[in-house]
Amino acid sequence: MTFASTKELARDARRGGYAVPAVNIVDNVSICAAVSAADATGSPIILQTSVKTVRYFGAAVLAAAARAAAASTRVPVALHLDHCPDRDVITEAIRNGWSSVLFDASDLPFEVARAETKAVCAEAHAAGVDVESEIENIVGVEDGVGSDDPDVHFYPDDQLVMVAEETGTDLMAPALGTAHGLYSAAPDLLVDRVQRLVTLTDIPIVLHGGTGLSASEFREFIGAGVSKINISTALKLAYMKTARDHLEQSERTGKWEPVKLFDAIGAAVERTVTDHIWLFESAQRVGVSA
Ligand code: 13P
Repeated sequence: MTFASTKELARDARRGGYAVPAVNIVDNVSICAAVSAADATGSPIILQTSVKTVRYFGAAVLAAAARAAAASTRVPVALHLDHCPDRDVITEAIRNGWSSVLFDASDLPFEVARAETKAVCAEAHAAGVDVESEIENIVGVEDGVGSDDPDVHFYPDDQLVMVAEETGTDLMAPALGTAHGLYSAAPDLLVDRVQRLVTLTDIPIVLHGGTGLSASEFREFIGAGVSKINISTALKLAYMKTARDHLEQSERTGKWEPVKLFDAIGAAVERTVTDHIWLFESAQRVGVSA
């Protein structure tokens, strides 16, 4: 069972006027929940792993779990490495069959980011793996990677596109005013930037920091041309708050059954992924299992 190409899923979505949900999974429970949501709704799905999760389980274990889940459905499933500034982890993901990697060069000076992104594209493409590139800062620390300092690196649209085209980038993650984590103030969203970028390039555009945006904000971004949207915090909240509630119930009832805990967490994560599938209009795009 091979994973789908992240680039192709995003390209199909751009043509179809929807966005593919790219959800950060943390273990087999969340992998199965995300794939089950995609299967039930007929949506393509991108499973994303943080560097922290890869380091915890090891790339081979995560890839095997994702592959087993992907084999259980007819909808396309891609496996993507989220924000990774570490070339060794990129190489490990490529060797273990990931569909794509996000090389996070956002903290590097422009010329270094450009050269390193080009080298990562060459390495990944030789193995048939797609590359999402990020040379601008998206505010917020995601699983230990990133910065809370806005506008550290932000380039003119044509310069950003020039680097993406020249390096062979398959998907680009520009700064669009969104931030990782929960918003403490209303973000200044750069939907107009997406509108300009799509006139300059066919490279699919990725929206980071999806948690906390409204249905109409998602619609505006998708209408402008975003075709992959990342959701992490919403899944973590569903996962952890369900675990807390279930453990409080175990305390009250005296019933301590781990598999029941996994069932509760899986159901909550599946509901959260399903909600985003409908928001991103990716449902009923691919074969629904009988
Ligand atoms: P949120 O945590 O805000 O959903 O952002 C996820 C993300 O962009 C992962 O790269």
